[in-house]
Amino acid sequence: MSDMAVTRELFDQVMVPNYAPAQVIPVRGQGARLWDQQGREYIDFAGGIAVNCLGHCHPALVSALKEQGEKLWHLSNVMTNEPALRLAKKLVDATFAEKVYFCNSGAEANEAALKLARRYAIDNFGPEKTQIIAFTQGFHGRTFFTVTVGGQAAYSDGFGPKPADVDHVPYNDLAALKALISDRTCAVVMEPLQGEGGIISPEPAFVQAVRELCDQHNALLVFDEVQTGVGRTGALYAYMDLGVTPDILTSAKALGGGFPIGAMLTTTRIAAALKVGTHGSTYGGNPLACAVAEAAFDTVKDPAVLNGVKERETWYREGLEAINAKYGCFGQIRGKGLLLGCVMNEQYQGRARDFLLAAMEEQLMVLIAGANVVRFAPSLVITKEEVAEGLARFERAVARVVNG
Ligand SMILES: Cc1ncc(COP(=O)(O)O)c(C=O)c1O
Repeated sequence: MSDMAVTRELFDQVMVPNYAPAQVIPVRGQGARLWDQQGREYIDFAGGIAVNCLGHCHPALVSALKEQGEKLWHLSNVMTNEPALRLAKKLVDATFAEKVYFCNSGAEANEAALKLARRYAIDNFGPEKTQIIAFTQGFHGRTFFTVTVGGQAAYSDGFGPKPADVDHVPYNDLAALKALISDRTCAVVMEPLQGEGGIISPEPAFVQAVRELCDQHNALLVFDEVQTGVGRTGALYAYMDLGVTPDILTSAKALGGGFPIGAMLTTTRIAAALKVGTHGSTYGGNPLACAVAEAAFDTVKDPAVLNGVKERETWYREGLEAINAKYGCFGQIRGKGLLLGCVMNEQYQGRARDFLLAAMEEQLMVLIAGANVVRFAPSLVITKEEVAEGLARFERAVARVVNG
């Protein structure tokens, strides 16, 4: 087994072709740095797509994993366990929520949220109240329900009949939402900052108005904080800075700091609709996942870490503005906290991927969000030196693209 030649070619031989991974295969990570099979070092501004909130192999997470790994790995939900209960209590204490449901990914957290919203509406208001309103360019995961609620039909087309009664309006378009919402609406689902859709912030007044419309029509407001949650925007959850409280919130990605876990948070009144047997997951609330997530949550919710995110945002913005002043390829640098996007200007339309590939050549990992945005979602505790070194590499990558 250990003699096997593990190469990128092996991926094409043995893996389902739904991904097109980079040519390099990282084998080790520490903080905001990664090393590949050849020992080449990279700075990681991608963070496993906003997952590695404390970088790679953070000592608090490694220690929680090792400790729990020698105690208890798995029970299933036939029994509960201490790490799950501790984590749930901490989530409840730190947020609007009174109840928590654990699962393994963002899509599963959203699937639970959508099923809960439907069941709550049907139980309390009757069988006609099933409409779900979501936003174009939104992203909520890849299960058939969540991908249908997501705002890019291309991701849900071609799989046969879709879950019904799901409608979309443009993000930040209050008039469109007003025209569509009615007493038949069971939920409005939104990211409090669209991530995959291109790092698009909502207007605070828009979010406030969405809340009011939901209240008028007895519709639940679901915030998908899978990407924005657990410190990413500088608040523990983005809703806290927006001053609008959702009825259901979903969290995943950074929640486990790299260990798969998802959570759906809600109130006691709404949670009551998921009675015994209505929903579940074998692995949900797995002790290993919850032990690591507890360590991540304890570390991130420290005000010093959250304030550090805002400070790091300044380092990035200043560095990126300086690069743009020299090379003039970005129309805008947007986002919040450490979820930032450089938007291609007219001249570079559709070329975000060229910047990602050039960055990889310069030993820097970045993300894109659509064809026009280079996205950064690094460790929330990335050091000043790592940011400076990464930005120097990004500047060289930009020069490569600009100079052809
Ligand atoms: C806002 C949002 N929701 C849901 C998901 C899906 O999460 P997962 O890939 O863990 O299922 C993502 C993933 O990118 C996301 O950004």
